[in-house]
Amino acid sequence: MSEYILEMDQITKDFSGVKALNNVNFKVKKGEIHCLVGENGAGKSTLMKVLSGVYPYGTYEGNIIFEGSIQQFSKINDSVDAGIAIIYQELALFPDLSVYENLFIGNEIQSRGVVNWNDTIQASKSILEKVNLKVNPEILVKDLGVGQQQLIEIAKALSKEVKLLILDEPTAALNEDDSENLLKLLRELKKQGITSIMISHKLKEVIAISDSATVLRDGNTICTLAASKGEISENTIIKNMVGREISDIYPKRDKKTFGDKILEVSNWSAYDSQLGKLILKDIQFHVNKGEIIGIAGLMGAGRTELAQSIFGNPKSYKLQGELKVNGTRKNFKHTSDAIKAGIAYVTEDRKGDGLFLTQDIKNNISIGNLKAIAELSGVINENEEIKVADEYKKDLTIKASSINQLVGNLSGGNQQKVSLGKWLFVKPNILILDEPTRGIDVGAKFEIYSIMNSLIDEGMSIIMISSELGEVLGMSDRIYVMAEGEIKGEILAEDASQENIMHLATK
Ligand SMILES: Nc1ncnc2c1ncn2[C@@H]1O[C@H](COP(=O)(O)OP(=O)(O)OP(=O)(O)O)[C@@H](O)[C@H]1O
Ligand SMILES: [Mg+2]
Repeated sequence: MSEYILEMDQITKDFSGVKALNNVNFKVKKGEIHCLVGENGAGKSTLMKVLSGVYPYGTYEGNIIFEGSIQQFSKINDSVDAGIAIIYQELALFPDLSVYENLFIGNEIQSRGVVNWNDTIQASKSILEKVNLKVNPEILVKDLGVGQQQLIEIAKALSKEVKLLILDEPTAALNEDDSENLLKLLRELKKQGITSIMISHKLKEVIAISDSATVLRDGNTICTLAASKGEISENTIIKNMVGREISDIYPKRDKKTFGDKILEVSNWSAYDSQLGKLILKDIQFHVNKGEIIGIAGLMGAGRTELAQSIFGNPKSYKLQGELKVNGTRKNFKHTSDAIKAGIAYVTEDRKGDGLFLTQDIKNNISIGNLKAIAELSGVINENEEIKVADEYKKDLTIKASSINQLVGNLSGGNQQKVSLGKWLFVKPNILILDEPTRGIDVGAKFEIYSIMNSLIDEGMSIIMISSELGEVLGMSDRIYVMAEGEIKGEILAEDASQENIMHLATK
């Protein structure tokens, strides 16, 4: 028998004229961990959707050979039956259901036609053990952290017989500990003979975990690198991904002069009535004009809550304290008040409240500032709208057939760029970026950092919330570290290190 468990041979996939995959060859050896890397829109997710039957046989060209025979999956269940499990880029759990309901939905344990919940809960426990997750199966999924939810997805996949496990950016939303845990789990599964394919933009983890890595670019296979031959390094991957070398992924800003305090928050506390607890405690911080402020911390430290509480408080926390913009005290009732005061917030959750997925790129970009493209009569000037959207598409290198493409059909990273474009067009004075490069490839990250620098040169100030320490260290002028709803410390960029940030983050 062949050493390959999977061979995808000359796969071509076309979306109404746009070739997402162009004669892609992809071979995975039995029992290995194989990473699939490439820029946003390179075709990684599409290739895996072809494999899993999301795009059924007949809608693509080429052959899928799994365990030695040609497969013609006409639906997802066909690939599941063959032993292929895929965990998509966006989690697909039901937040309001319990862990055991999520694990067994559609697959309940029955006796005489009645669901046997006791057995189901027992069975859930043993499935959770497979992923080393120690939670009560009766707890609701929404009450778990993202890392634990990710493990539930994997547990769910493992509840059936799996030979090939596919994970599409599983660690994008995880903190370092949870990511480490997940990689450990993949290694354990490998010992049990399970083959894995992992898509990731985090090159460090690709390097740490891969036996092989295949690089896609613009729908083409560029190369497959083998760890055993010492071929998997950051430089080699980047060079093959973007087709050029990037010497320093954090572009330098030449002039660093800061103006007055543009934002000042003091004695700031927030109470979440739904959770029944204080989520922000006596926060003091400020931003100077022309400054990039990094807000570091672990998942759940309260960083997003802080951003939202400032940005018009959409979650209706009970707020206390003082917020000043340009020295004037403000009391925002709605996000629209915050926007009027010159604040913009690019959310970490682009699907949740960042973007209109059923609308095109053009509408998504113009929506926040229709006034700017309206004529005196109030009618939208469509030519102007097109011009603006085309500019952002170009500047942010949004990969799409045109600005008329629906945002829901863009690759994950390109959706993030549209979200950024939308808020840049609002032309704020203070831009809050929440995990701005999550799911973004290295080349595009560089572009986003360069854009941040030029915005600062134009007089903007930026607050960047990020879980990526490299990015916090590489881009910030000053860093606040949060934990448990408090600011645990403030560090100037020149004094900052991974160690002192992590020290404060776990205080
Ligand atoms: N349903 C669809 N309709 C039209 N075009 C699509 C559709 N799905 C994907 N595409 C296009 O196919 C290309 C590949 O997208 P894909 O999602 O596979 O990228 P990716 O490599 O997973 O990127 P990312 O790292 O951003 O997730 C992109 O140009 C995307 O816009
Ligand atoms: Mg993808």
